[in-house]
Amino acid sequence: MNKLFAANWKMHKTSSEARQTAADLVGLVSGRLKPGREVMILPPFTALTPVAESLRGAKNFLLGAQNFYPQKQGAFTGEISPAMLRDLGVTFALTGHSERRHVLGETSAQVGSKTAFGLSSGLGVILCVGEKIDERKAGRVEAVLEHQLREGVREVPRDVDPERLCIAYEPVWAIGTGEVAGPEEILEAHAFVRRMLVDIFGASASRMRILYGGSVKPDNAAEIIALDNVDGVLVGGASLKAEDFSRIVLA
Ligand code: PGA
Repeated sequence: MNKLFAANWKMHKTSSEARQTAADLVGLVSGRLKPGREVMILPPFTALTPVAESLRGAKNFLLGAQNFYPQKQGAFTGEISPAMLRDLGVTFALTGHSERRHVLGETSAQVGSKTAFGLSSGLGVILCVGEKIDERKAGRVEAVLEHQLREGVREVPRDVDPERLCIAYEPVWAIGTGEVAGPEEILEAHAFVRRMLVDIFGASASRMRILYGGSVKPDNAAEIIALDNVDGVLVGGASLKAEDFSRIVLA
C-alpha cells in the first residue's frame, strides 16, 4: 500500500500555470521519491490535459479530478462524467470535500451516490469526511464521521478493491486556516475511521488508505505522515507551489 501525497489545487491555476507547476514538481521530485510513495495532482478540469502532459512518463505520479457527476452522460449542463475524466488519464477523484458539502450544498446522500458511481465507472475515489468546529466542541466527532462514512459508502459493494477507495479525514476547522489538527486528534480520528471501515468492509479495510488533510505544510508533513493509520495527505494551499509541495512529498 503506497503512501499517497495528493495535491488538491481547487479553483487555482490557468492551464499554462498548471502545466508549468506540474513540470516543476516532476523535476524536483523525480528520482528522489522514497519507495512506497506516490504523488497525485488534482487540478481544475480545464488543466487536466496540460498536467497529464507534464506527468507523462513520470514514475509514481497520478492524475486526479476534484469532482464529477454520477451519470454516464445526458442533459446535465455544466457537469463532467467519470468516462470523460478517464479519457484524459484521470485515475482517482474526490467525493465529499468539505467545500462541496458546505459551500456547494452537497448532501451525504449525494456524496454516497457519487462515491458508488465513480467506483463502478472505474475511477478510484477519495471520500472526504470531517467535522466542523462546533461539532467537535459538542463532542460529536465520532458521530459525524460515522454518519458521513456510512452514507458515503452505503452503495459501495463490500468486495470493492480496497486500493481504489481512500478516505480523507479533513477536519473542516483545519482546512485553509493554518490550524492543523494535533497528533492526538489525528490518531484518534484515523483509528476511528479504520474501525468503521473494518466494521463495514471486513479485513480488506486494512488496505484502504486513510489520508489526513487540513493545513498540511512542509514543516509538519513528516510528523503527520509518520502517525499510525495515516497513509497519505491531501494538501490544498501548500500544494500550489511546486517547491513547497515537493518538500511535503519528500519529507
Ligand atoms: P489546505 O486544504 O491544505 O489548504 O488546508 C486541504 C483540502 O482542502 O483538501
